[in-house]
Amino acid sequence: MKQGQEGAKDKRFSEEENENTLTTRQGHPVRNNQNLRTVGNRGPSTLENYDFIEKISHFDRERVPERVVHARGTGAHGYFETYGKAGDEPVEKYTRAKVFSDAGKRTPVLVRFSTVTHQQGSPETLRDPRGFAVKFYTEDGNWDLVGNNLKVFFIRDAMKFPDLIHAFKPDPVTNIQDSERIFDFISNTPEAMNMITYLFSPWGIPANYRQMQGSGVNTYRWVNEEGKGCLIKYHFEPLKQGIKNLTQEEANEIQAENFNHATQDLYEAIENGDYPEWELCVQIMEDHEHPELDFDPLDDTKIWPEDQFPFLKVGKMVLNKNPDNYYNEVEQAAFGTGVLVDGLDFSDDKMLQGRTFSYSDTQRYRVGANYLQLPVNAPKKHVATNQEGGQMSYQVDRPESANPHINYEPSSLNGLEESKRKVAHHRPYVEGELTKEPIDRENNFKQAGERYRLLEDWERKDLINNLVNSLKPCQSHIQQKMIHLLSQCDEDYGKRVADGLSMDMDATKEEYSEEITPTKGKLPKKGGSPL
Ligand code: HEM
Repeated sequence: MKQGQEGAKDKRFSEEENENTLTTRQGHPVRNNQNLRTVGNRGPSTLENYDFIEKISHFDRERVPERVVHARGTGAHGYFETYGKAGDEPVEKYTRAKVFSDAGKRTPVLVRFSTVTHQQGSPETLRDPRGFAVKFYTEDGNWDLVGNNLKVFFIRDAMKFPDLIHAFKPDPVTNIQDSERIFDFISNTPEAMNMITYLFSPWGIPANYRQMQGSGVNTYRWVNEEGKGCLIKYHFEPLKQGIKNLTQEEANEIQAENFNHATQDLYEAIENGDYPEWELCVQIMEDHEHPELDFDPLDDTKIWPEDQFPFLKVGKMVLNKNPDNYYNEVEQAAFGTGVLVDGLDFSDDKMLQGRTFSYSDTQRYRVGANYLQLPVNAPKKHVATNQEGGQMSYQVDRPESANPHINYEPSSLNGLEESKRKVAHHRPYVEGELTKEPIDRENNFKQAGERYRLLEDWERKDLINNLVNSLKPCQSHIQQKMIHLLSQCDEDYGKRVADGLSMDMDATKEEYSEEITPTKGKLPKKGGSPL
C-alpha cells in the first residue's frame, strides 16, 4: 500500500516520502533535482556535489557501442508453440530438441528485427536485408535462431564478411554511403547475384517487420535420439498478416514523413492486440554432400528448391508483448548462432562457422563479459557454472546446495559436477586436406535467373529501375562488369539494365578499356538511389 493511503505506514520511507520518491542509485532520497550545489545561488559549484555527479556520470555512459551491423532494430516478446510434428511425421524422427516435442507446448521467445547496414537512428525505409533474430528460452536452455528476411545471402565464406560490410557502410573518408563502392565489391563477387536480385526488387524493402518472412539462411543440423543427423533450413512464414513489400517510390513517400514506421507498426499492432504470427517451417535433407544437386547444400547463396525439399510445418510463433524497456530488453539483447540446445547442431556451412565465433565475441565487447547475466540474455532455466568475476558481475551461478568455496571441477568437496546423462552424439567423420579453397558447385547465376523470371512484372520493373539508378553513378567498367554478370543470370536481365544505362550490350563483353579513376579524394556522384 502506498504512503499517504490509509493503513499502517511503510517503515521504508520517512515522513512525506513514498515509493515514488526520487532517489539516487545509493537509495538516498533526492530533495532537490533542479539545482546544482553552489556557493551562493550564482556559483561556483562544488566538487562534492554527489547527487549531480552520480546523475551526470551515469548519463555520460548511457550508450553501449551500437551493433557493428544490424544497429537499427526493434523487438517484442511472445511464444513459440510446437506442433510436435515436422509435416506429417513425428518431429522426434528428426530431432530430440524438447522445444519441438509435445504438441501444444509453448516456449517463451524474444524477437529482434533490424536493418543491417545503417546506424541506430537511420530510417527504416532503406533498402537493406532485414534481420529476424529469435531467442527461444527453452527448457533445455537458450536457442537463438539468427536469420534474415531473405532466404539467401551475398557471400558463402565468412572470410569475406568484413569486406562486404565495409563496402556497404559509408566511405571511410567521406562518411557517405557510396553505390560505387558497393557495386565495385558486388561486381567482383558473382555469388552475390541471387541476393542482389532479391535486394534490389521490392523484396529489399519489406513494408514493415510484421509482413515479412524470416529465414535461418544457413544450413543447420538436427539430431535425433539415436544420434542420427539431417540437414535443416528454417523458415518463418507470416500467417494472418501476410507479406507486403514496397517499391522505391512507396518507400520514399513513407520516409518523407516517418523514419520509425516499422518500429511503430510493430509496437502499435501489439498494443492493439493484433498479434503478429509466423509459422515455423523446416526443409530437411539427408546428411551428405548430395552430388545429384547442382549446388552445395551448405552454400547459403542458394535456396533449396521447395518442390524437392518441401516446407514442413513445425510450429507457430506469436508476438504478444512489447518490451517494458527498449534498452534493457532489446538493445542489450545478444543473439548468436552458437547458442543451440541438445538435438540442434551446426553444419559445416562455412558462413555459419565464421558467424558462430563472431557473435559472442562482439557481445563480450559490446555489452560486456557478463552479458549472459542480464535478464534478457539469461536462460529462464537453472544455470550452474564456475565462472567468476569480470566487469559488472552481480551473481555467481552456483546453487545453495553446492559448496560456495569450490569454483572448479573436478572436486570431491561438493562442487558442481558434469551431467551424467548419456546421449547418443552425432559424430560425423571428417577427413581431407587442410586448404583455403572455394567450394566446387558454385553455380552463381542459375537461381538468380530463376528468381528474376519468377518476379511479377511490377517487381521486375522496380528491380531494373533500382539497379540502373544505383549503377548510374558508378564508373563504366563497374557497370560493364555488373551487366556481364546479370546477363549470365538471364539475358533479358542484363539487357534491360544495359538499356537503362544506355550501354551497348556488345561493349559489355569486351575487356574493360576505360580509364579507372581512383576513389581517393572523391565524393560519390549524385543521382544514385540510396540503399
Ligand atoms: C548481427 C556478424 C552473417 C544475421 C551481427 C553482429 C555481428 C554479426 C558481429 C552484431 C551482433 C551484436 O552486436 O550483438 C556476422 C558475420 C557473418 C554474418 C561474421 C558472416 C560470416 C549473417 C547472416 C545473417 C545474419 C548470413 C542472416 C542469416 C544477423 C542478425 C543480426 C546480426 C539478424 C542482428 C541480431 C540482433 O538482432 O541482435 N552479425 N553476421 N548475419 N546478424 Fe550477422
